[in-house]
Amino acid sequence: MGKGVIYILFGVSGSGKTTIGKKLAKDFNIPFFDADDFHPESNIKKMSDGFPLNDSDREPWLQKLANKIIDWNTKNGAVLACSALKIKYRDTLQSIDPEYIEWIFLDGSFDLIANRMETRKNHFFKKEMLISQFETLERPEKGIVITVDKSSDEIVNEIKSKLDTNRSQLGLIGLGVMGKSLAKNLLSKNFTLSVYNRQVDDYEVDIAKKFVKEQPDNHMVLGFDNLKSFVDSIEQPRTIILMVNAGKPVDLVIDALVLFLSKGDCIIDGGNSHYKSTLERSNRLSDKGVHFLGAGISGGEEGALKGPSIMPGGSKEAYDRSGFFLEAIAARDNANNPCCDYIGPEGSGHYVKMVHNGIEYAEMQLLAEAYHILRFYAKKNPDQIAAIFNIWRNNGLDSYLLEITIGILIKKEGNNFLIDKILDKAGQKGTGGWSTNAALEVGMPLSTISESVMARNISGIKSQRVEASERYQLKTSSISSDDTVFIENLEKAFRTASVINHHIGFELLKEASKEYNWELNLSKIARIWTNGCIIRSDLMEQIWDLFLNNNDTSLLLFPDIITTVKSNIDSLTETVAVGLKSRYSLPVFSAAANYFLTYASAQSSANMIQAQRDYFGAHTYQRIDKPINEYFHTNWKS
Ligand code: 6PG
Repeated sequence: MGKGVIYILFGVSGSGKTTIGKKLAKDFNIPFFDADDFHPESNIKKMSDGFPLNDSDREPWLQKLANKIIDWNTKNGAVLACSALKIKYRDTLQSIDPEYIEWIFLDGSFDLIANRMETRKNHFFKKEMLISQFETLERPEKGIVITVDKSSDEIVNEIKSKLDTNRSQLGLIGLGVMGKSLAKNLLSKNFTLSVYNRQVDDYEVDIAKKFVKEQPDNHMVLGFDNLKSFVDSIEQPRTIILMVNAGKPVDLVIDALVLFLSKGDCIIDGGNSHYKSTLERSNRLSDKGVHFLGAGISGGEEGALKGPSIMPGGSKEAYDRSGFFLEAIAARDNANNPCCDYIGPEGSGHYVKMVHNGIEYAEMQLLAEAYHILRFYAKKNPDQIAAIFNIWRNNGLDSYLLEITIGILIKKEGNNFLIDKILDKAGQKGTGGWSTNAALEVGMPLSTISESVMARNISGIKSQRVEASERYQLKTSSISSDDTVFIENLEKAFRTASVINHHIGFELLKEASKEYNWELNLSKIARIWTNGCIIRSDLMEQIWDLFLNNNDTSLLLFPDIITTVKSNIDSLTETVAVGLKSRYSLPVFSAAANYFLTYASAQSSANMIQAQRDYFGAHTYQRIDKPINEYFHTNWKS
């Protein structure tokens, strides 16, 4: 730890330094020291004999205190009560970096102090001594001045509030790509900010200090590599945003941070943490009176800088107090409202972000499959595919992902298209897979999303795929005639599969909301996703509008959606058929088609599943010609 702040309360005898100092130390959870306890014996004898100390008496005493201050600064800091009446005394005590000392002058007139001293129990008051103290006193040129004409609690509160005016409005930990962008966004909104980044030799050195130097308005930002002084620099109750890698790093930072926090402070985890971890952290911190928000933040580096979509969940009290920071930096929807709102309790914010990423994975895979079949079955060049996708954008399919896919397709490296040079092995940090597990936990189908995760997984066994391709010599076919119908069908297939994918994602949110009692508002979530996030799109605007008055209706059951899907479903099935017959895999297009064909069929194949389960496991089955609450078993072999 170390770099603790030293709060020095100074003023004439009777101004209340010890009483106030002890209260402050208790509130700040740091030790209290009375300078008088550090006098050498000779000084104590001199004073008890009624002789005033001179400057040479004070020198060794002040030097000893100065060394103590250095020591306390290497720990958690301290509160020191010391008369320190002369400027040169205070200069001697200034033995560390000024940013780690807070000078607090307890001020009052002679009469006020004299009255205070006269009324103090068993305190022998010598008027002459007070007169000489006032004659010695040199008023401070810097620091906080508090008139002691009020109760000690009021004095402590005034000290705290004046300390806060020198403090940042909020703090941010973790100056990685997203953390730096978010910090710049906060500064652009004129918040005063403290930033912290760990020091790791040869790896992360002076990151925070360098960040501060890079900012145009660097008087608005303080940089720290010491956690304690970072925390002390933030006004209370504190709001601190964590932008560190999900998993263990979050717990390590929280464990270190919580030692310095006070009740009522709030930590906001802005990383892609798992919603179960967020719930556990929230419970752990609430035991210490510290609030916790798990905020999904979407939009990548550019979004974080210019306006992300933010999905905060957890302590409502904390959101009511700290949410305005997040709303200030969020993207705006088409009514200019922040794409940030309180999602719900516990880990619901990170759950919603997880489902956002699930929908994102599947949308990305749909575009990848459309690109792939156009590139290899329809024999289009990347720039031709970009032209086709631009038509889609103008046909009401506009989205951030379609826009960047077009940008990717036209990107050239010399005379080559860069996309043709990229290895077809997809990475993943895990959020798509988490949504698949989450769906299994609540028994929900997640076809398009889980298939998009599997598509990334199978892409990962590249060397085996190369070997298999050599052994199987798969004969793919390419389009032979005019491709107009195929391309028209592909566009309609994409529109339909995308609707089905969004339906699947929102259905999971609905089920999770019921299962975990989160009371999620789907319209609010769709609104937050209309700008700033990766899955922002024309479709999301429509979904927001549809859910506005029907939070419970399934997306595929809205009349407008039924019309769209009805008129396009044949294009989806035809596209999947063409792809499979020409031997191009379309996992998410197929998953969307299969999901829909089951979803919209009253009769599925599951009666056979029930019979098989009962045959080998006697798991029983219900009957369509009997009451639904009756179960049956058959001895199938008799
Ligand atoms: C976002 C993105 C982002 C995502 C990374 C890596 O909403 O800004 O979803 O949070 O986690 O881009 O995602 P994968 O590595 O899982 O593809």
